[in-house]
Amino acid sequence: MKKIIRVWDLPVRVFHWLLVACLIGSLVSVNLGGNAIEWHAYFGYSILVLLVFRVLWGFIGSTHARFVNFFPSKEKILNYLSGNSPRVLGHNPLGALSVFALLFVLSVQVFTGLFVDDEIAFQGPLAKYIPNFLVSLFSEIHEANQVLIYALISVHIAAILFYKKFKGEDLIKPMLSGDKEIDPSEEADYLPTDLGQPSKDGFLQRTLALILLSVIAVVVGYLITSS
Ligand code: HEM
Ligand code: HEM
Repeated sequence: MKKIIRVWDLPVRVFHWLLVACLIGSLVSVNLGGNAIEWHAYFGYSILVLLVFRVLWGFIGSTHARFVNFFPSKEKILNYLSGNSPRVLGHNPLGALSVFALLFVLSVQVFTGLFVDDEIAFQGPLAKYIPNFLVSLFSEIHEANQVLIYALISVHIAAILFYKKFKGEDLIKPMLSGDKEIDPSEEADYLPTDLGQPSKDGFLQRTLALILLSVIAVVVGYLITSS
């Protein structure tokens, strides 16, 4: 019988799919033009809330949500590439690298967005506090960084399809259901400590995550409306 192990807690899954939805929303709205730029900003603020949440959850979340458990050291990456390392339930070292890269480029995008001026009708809420040359610089970074975002998302999706087609591993289902199903014949490929440490995903963790997300949303909302 297959062993069912909780890998992605509900907060990580909700974070992931809300991030995807808000990113699509922000890209669609920025291309609509006109007043839709207001929506672009709202999606951007939502992404800011999600990113702050994910960073904090990376310290206090469940096993596989914690950065310390998937931080991609050089040694781990080289071992993984040499094919000698055991399989991992959470993010593998290469996947982890792309996760950190995605979180970083999205943070740069949100940060610069707060200072951007479209020179028509919309200004990021913090643009008025910095000199013009910095507004121009941040606006240029905001425009250029989108290329990195598209590139990383393409690699992200290509890697997931690669794992499905060539390694027979469906990574998408666990990001929806939270669980990985391990066949007894595959158990030896994993470290026993990894198999023995499912992510806690009970009422307590979920309530804590909801409170954390709400507090971050209120603080970000307050800082933006009062600036
Ligand atoms: C807008 C585009 C996307 C962004 C910005 C994005 C971002 C991310 C991030 C930040 C993570 C890490 C999750 C965490 O630990 O918190 C992740 C993981 C994951 N994403 Fe996405 N994602 C995107 C689109 C997608 C799509 C379309 C799919 C499905 C086809 C997908 C499937 C997954 C899966 C399966 C994982 C877990 C990978 C693993 O097992 O290591 N993502 N994504
Ligand atoms: C991760 C979140 C965000 C993404 C992915 C994103 C993406 C983009 C993209 C692709 C453009 C078009 C750039 C161009 O080709 O000229 C843009 C423009 C813009 N963004 Fe964002 N953005 C984000 C967050 C924000 C935030 C938080 C704000 C401000 C509150 C913001 C304000 C603007 C403005 C005002 C423009 C127009 C700039 C111009 O016309 O020069 N963005 N954004």
